[in-house]
This record gives sequence, C-alpha cells and structure tokens, in this order.
Amino acid sequence: MRTQTSSLRSKDLLGIEHLTPEEITLILDTAEGFKEVSERPVKKVPALRGQLVINLFMEASTRTRVSFEIAEKRLSADTLNFTASGSSVEKGETLIDTAENLMAMAPDMIVIRHKYPGAPKMLADRLPASIINAGDGAHEHPTQALLDAFTIRERLGRLHGVNVSIIGDIAHSRVVRSNIHLLTKMKANVTVAGPPTLIPVEIEKLGVRVLHSIDEAIDGADVIMMLRIQLERQGKLRFPSLREYYNTFGLTPQRLRRAKEGVIVMHPGPMNRGVEIASDVADGPWSVILDQVTNGVAVRMAVLYLLGGAHRE
Ligand code: CP
Repeated sequence: MRTQTSSLRSKDLLGIEHLTPEEITLILDTAEGFKEVSERPVKKVPALRGQLVINLFMEASTRTRVSFEIAEKRLSADTLNFTASGSSVEKGETLIDTAENLMAMAPDMIVIRHKYPGAPKMLADRLPASIINAGDGAHEHPTQALLDAFTIRERLGRLHGVNVSIIGDIAHSRVVRSNIHLLTKMKANVTVAGPPTLIPVEIEKLGVRVLHSIDEAIDGADVIMMLRIQLERQGKLRFPSLREYYNTFGLTPQRLRRAKEGVIVMHPGPMNRGVEIASDVADGPWSVILDQVTNGVAVRMAVLYLLGGAHRE
C-alpha cells in the first residue's frame, strides 16, 4: 500500500526525476483544491501573503511565465518579473551574479527558465530561496509534466495503466523527459514515436516502448501527446522537409479516426500547426490542449504553496 505524504522533501522543484510517486500525488491532489479557487468569483487566497517570488525568465515563454504569475497572484504573493532583455545580463553579468544580487533582496522563491540544462540546480545549490525549474534546455520541465498528468487524471480518472503515446521531436524535448519520469513512476504505459533521427539512443532504458510509425503509436493509445519540432535546438533539419514530416508524422483527422474511442490529444505548446499537428485536430473535440493551459495555473499554485516558506515551517 502506498504511504501518504503531506510535504515535499526538497526546498526546490528541479525536476520529476527525484520526486516520489507520493510527492507527485500530493502535488496533483493539492492542485485539485486550487482549481476550485480559480473557478470562484474572487480568485484569491492568502496562502503566500508577504512572500516574494521572482520569475527569472532567460528564455522565451508564453504559457509558463503567465501561468506562474497568475498562480502567484492567486496565492497573494508579491511577484517580480525579470527577463534578460533590458537587464545587466546584456552587459555580460553572469547568471550566478544576477541571482545573488536578486537574492540580496530576499525573495522566498525563484522560478527560473534557462536555455542551459542544470541552471536551476546551480542556483538551488547556492541560494537559500526555493528554486522552481520552469524549463532548463532539453533537461526537464517538471510543472509541464505535472499539469499534463493532472489533465490526464481529470479526463481519464487515473494514471495507472493508461497508454500514453508521445510523438515527435523526442531528442530535444524537456517535456518528454519530465513526462517519462512522471508517467513511469505512476505506472502508465509510455510509448515514444518519431523518426530515428529524433529519438535518443537507449531511451528505452527509461522504461518506454520506441516506435517509428505514428499509426502504430496511435493504435491503442488513450492519450496522444504531440511534441513541437524544435527547429531552434536542432541546428539543421533532421528530416528532408517540413512537408514530408507532416506527411509521415503529422497528426491528422484521418489518422485520428483510427484511434481508440475516447482518446485525448495533448500538446504542451507552442504548436507548429501543419507540421506536427493539423489545425482540425488541435481545435477538434479530441483536443484538451487549452485544458492543459487552464490546469497549469492550479498545478503551479500547488507547487508554490507546497514549497512556500510558511507552509514548510
Ligand atoms: N509549454 C510551455 O512551456 O510553453 P511556453 O514555452 O510558452 O512557456
């Protein structure tokens, strides 16, 4: 029998890899309560009143940055948004110097997105504030995997035994790494699919099935999670053309008609419409893509609350 837990062991959330299934369940259960807060006329609770959260985004973001900021405001935290553009980073100041200067102004938590894997851990090892990884290079994006799991659990009622096919640019995705850690810990069955040039060698050692056909990956899936082709991280194209990619790996309504009844389609965003997913699918009845965005606020409220100083004392 699984033991229950009422707190997270670490002061930081750097990835899913080191969370236990009990900690994952705690975050998802806590998020359920916070989703109800977001549905009230007055969408605010005093849980983090008096705490300062700095959002340190050194790489582009729409969903994660906005979602964290909304979550912080709904918990009554004071928030400060810091981006590299317009800061002394443009004059050559290092990440550590930037973070230590921000720390001198006594934030309780720092949410960081950075293009270098390991940047959040570097801050977590040096600073007393709680560090939350909002995406570090191709390493991890833990709150994305948590909001994906929340959405699957909300729609299908469970994670255990659910067949999840993750299709696309597996090689460059931090989302897939966090999702594989989370879904395998929670006993879901995970398949990854894509062209061989976009699948890392030995990924099956993480406990996933590997396929090179989208039709085989769709067959029997309860959840189809499409991933963006990350042209900015590829250097050069790993397949002949975007048109050919769409023809061989794009999720179209025709392909989806052969899927299991009740299948749900997910995408972390931003989407390349007409490359990995057809617009008719992204906007169709199978899609839970905007539910993922809605649930992101509740999940980030849960993470902030569970790491927040007052809760941990
Ligand atoms: N899913 C996700 O991380 O989106 P953003 O890059 O817009 O934050």
